[in-house]
Amino acid sequence: MAARPDYVGYVAKDPEQRTRVRQLPGAAYWFLKSKVVYGALAYPYGVFKHSKLLRSVDRTSAHTYTCFYRSPTQLRVLSGPVLDYLGRPERTGRRLEIIAMACSNGAEVYTLASWLSLRVPGLDFHITASDLHQSMVDKAASGQYTADEALQSQYITTDFVSRTFDRKGEFHVVKPELRAKVTFHQADLLDSHGLRERFGPAPLVLAQNVLFHLSPANARIAFDNLYNMLQDRGVLLVEGMDGDLRVELTQRYGLEPLLDKQRRIYSETRVHTPIDWWNYYWGSEPYFPLRPDRERRYGTIFLKRG
Ligand SMILES: C[S@@+](CC[C@H](N)C(=O)[O-])C[C@H]1O[C@@H](n2cnc3c(N)ncnc32)[C@H](O)[C@@H]1O
Repeated sequence: MAARPDYVGYVAKDPEQRTRVRQLPGAAYWFLKSKVVYGALAYPYGVFKHSKLLRSVDRTSAHTYTCFYRSPTQLRVLSGPVLDYLGRPERTGRRLEIIAMACSNGAEVYTLASWLSLRVPGLDFHITASDLHQSMVDKAASGQYTADEALQSQYITTDFVSRTFDRKGEFHVVKPELRAKVTFHQADLLDSHGLRERFGPAPLVLAQNVLFHLSPANARIAFDNLYNMLQDRGVLLVEGMDGDLRVELTQRYGLEPLLDKQRRIYSETRVHTPIDWWNYYWGSEPYFPLRPDRERRYGTIFLKRG
């Protein structure tokens, strides 16, 4: 089945300019501030409209949007508190096995490989990545990207680019040592039997920005499959999942949200969310600190106790 690559409309940022903007708040800061105020005022209306939309809308598996260096804070927490929880595998000499479902064109897993190689010297790890669409698997395995595909992140930096890619003509090609850390396969999150046979259990499982593309009934099946891929004392990353369902299922399966930098991670993951987020089934609400269930609702990293 071929998927429409919907990340093609995004354009390359200049990594050097991105770095300068982050250092100089100025106009960008006030623009963001006005978005926050607007977001808070529209919040009750948005929650009402969005839950109405979620009851009737058809989801699609054809959304393949992804990007390199999507959430730097989530990466920092991964190489810090998450690896602490997993017992610092780089010190034990054990290979860290990572399963990444719904990997799209591979940007997420190559980012992870690049980050771990830099931040956790001596860590032996391997990522088993997969996607529903064979066309995405082929693209990911090629490791070759146009500038628009490679450089569109809001957070892209010159450092990340130079340690992740070699330049071959107009293409950014993932460095061979990072490609060697990942293998790609076709797999369906709903294929309970096949997943059990082929994947896991692993200490670290990712299924990001995919569960909100499944109907609630299918998201429940997929979540059960993900839980079964997790070993005891494992960690699940599930950015991009309907909030109500995230609260319900993480509670039911006894998964605990990791609170480190939670608000910041959640906000970074909303960077492409339109201001009228309630008109998109995949839209996520702005972080609302008064939500009593906020630690589960806005959590992207969950711990399975052993
Ligand atoms: C929006 S992309 C997210 C990519 C990446 N995980 C990220 O966060 O940047 C969603 C991906 O989920 C894949 N997908 C959709 N339904 C799936 C399923 N049932 N099983 C596995 N992958 C699926 C799509 O092909 C697409 O590549």
